[in-house]
Amino acid sequence: MTMRIQPSILSADFVNFESEFSTISAADGIHVDVMDGHFVPNMTFGLGMVKRMQEISSLPLDVHLMIENPEHWAVLYAGTGVFSTTIHFEASSDPVATAKAIRATGSRAGLSIKPNTPVSEIKDLLEHFDQVLVMSVEPGFGGQAFMPAALEKISTLRKLVDSKNLSTWIQVDGGIDLATIALAASAGADTFVAGSSVFNSADRNSMIDQLRSTAQSAVPSF
Ligand code: DX5
Ligand code: ZN
Repeated sequence: MTMRIQPSILSADFVNFESEFSTISAADGIHVDVMDGHFVPNMTFGLGMVKRMQEISSLPLDVHLMIENPEHWAVLYAGTGVFSTTIHFEASSDPVATAKAIRATGSRAGLSIKPNTPVSEIKDLLEHFDQVLVMSVEPGFGGQAFMPAALEKISTLRKLVDSKNLSTWIQVDGGIDLATIALAASAGADTFVAGSSVFNSADRNSMIDQLRSTAQSAVPSF
């Protein structure tokens, strides 16, 4: 199984994104956390910043929208040309229509669930999305501890995706480091967001490579 590492720039230096991007060239993509101060108790940046990031990045951008009213906003982010655009199930009044609008721009569509949202809530929506993001911390801040309850959700999703013959990526975000990535990979995740573990490393590219090889050697337990 292909294992992908996407560093989260929430842990990067916000006034030096261009040089920060150049320190993570070994990554498979860059995870971009958009927070509005309403859906989550924190704010980051908006559409204008994401547009510029897309212009300067040589890696695919994976936009994680922790915002209210994705029905309005998601298509605008997707339209900047980013690789993938993920909305939160809890914030969305019409996830299927929003996924269609995202996909129509050429961006992959993602659906994320917070720790208290069970997989059963989204199981009938899977075919409309290219990736599902399981939050393994309460969204809003980097540097929190991985919540082991995410593992059960990942393995339920893996069984669903495989039994429906879908190619949906299963992504996990929050508290991913060399120990927790092995657990998440054996539960069935294939795409890993890592903020503080990558950005606090002295050699970020070597940490990215170690995370990927640790995920690759974790034996799937499903
Ligand atoms: C949290 C964000 C994450 C965050 C992960 O709300 O969605 O992407 O940056 O940071 P770490 O890897 O430090 O938990
Ligand atoms: Zn995120």
